[in-house]
Amino acid sequence: MRIVVLTGAGVSAESGVPTFRDADGLWEGHRVEDVATPEAFEYQPSVVHRFYDARRAALATVDPNPAHHALARLEEAIGDDLLVVTQNIDDLHERGGSTRVVHMHGRLRSAWCRACDGRTDWHDDLADHPPCPRCGVTELRPDVVWFGEIPYEMDRISAALDRADVFVSIGTSGAVYPAAGFVQYAGGRGAHTVELNLEPSAGSALFAEARQGPASVLVPRWVSEVLGS
Ligand code: APR
Repeated sequence: MRIVVLTGAGVSAESGVPTFRDADGLWEGHRVEDVATPEAFEYQPSVVHRFYDARRAALATVDPNPAHHALARLEEAIGDDLLVVTQNIDDLHERGGSTRVVHMHGRLRSAWCRACDGRTDWHDDLADHPPCPRCGVTELRPDVVWFGEIPYEMDRISAALDRADVFVSIGTSGAVYPAAGFVQYAGGRGAHTVELNLEPSAGSALFAEARQGPASVLVPRWVSEVLGS
């Protein structure tokens, strides 16, 4: 059984990583949309860097939760038949033990050089304009996909959705495309579709099955059902 799992901010919420659209969804009074765009980076790079530097620093204070661990257990059992596609830029899936993970919106712990196009694992701040370890130029930006930019690895994601028997969406509001369209894409190709979310998402009615509750409870329970143990 080939399974594609899509995750959003809700899968990391119980680890202490704030979601985007719950509560006021603001960061230091900024709408996320106002700091996560190429235009914002052009006009106020220091504000954008501070936003991502703060989130990168916060990553060191959080740990994977039972939802991340359960998906790693599923991968251990079914190997290449599982692909986790995440909209999250944290590394909690990998720290939870998953290896088959696609970060369609990029990674916080990676810096992208606009001079040499190189990408480097990065755990520190970028606001002080450090030089690129590869080319030495001070043109590093967060390696994340901003609004208006094209998500990463869409070919690999589409290929996996084409072949999926089951598509599961965990902890996402279904507000942002192209991820919000995956349920119709996979469902239209015969996949059984399941939503695991704290509350019904914008696309809940599109799923064959929708369960509400915290990911740390729903995901381990769903994985046990799939594995029969
Ligand atoms: N367990 C399960 N679901 C949860 C939990 C939880 N503990 N806490 C919150 N949720 C659900 C919320 O009900 C909501 O539907 O997770 C969803 C989080 O939605 P958003 O904050 O909109 O995050 P997400 O869907 O990942 O956003 C998509 O938008 O801002 C951009 O690029 C950013 O990747 C992000 C994209």
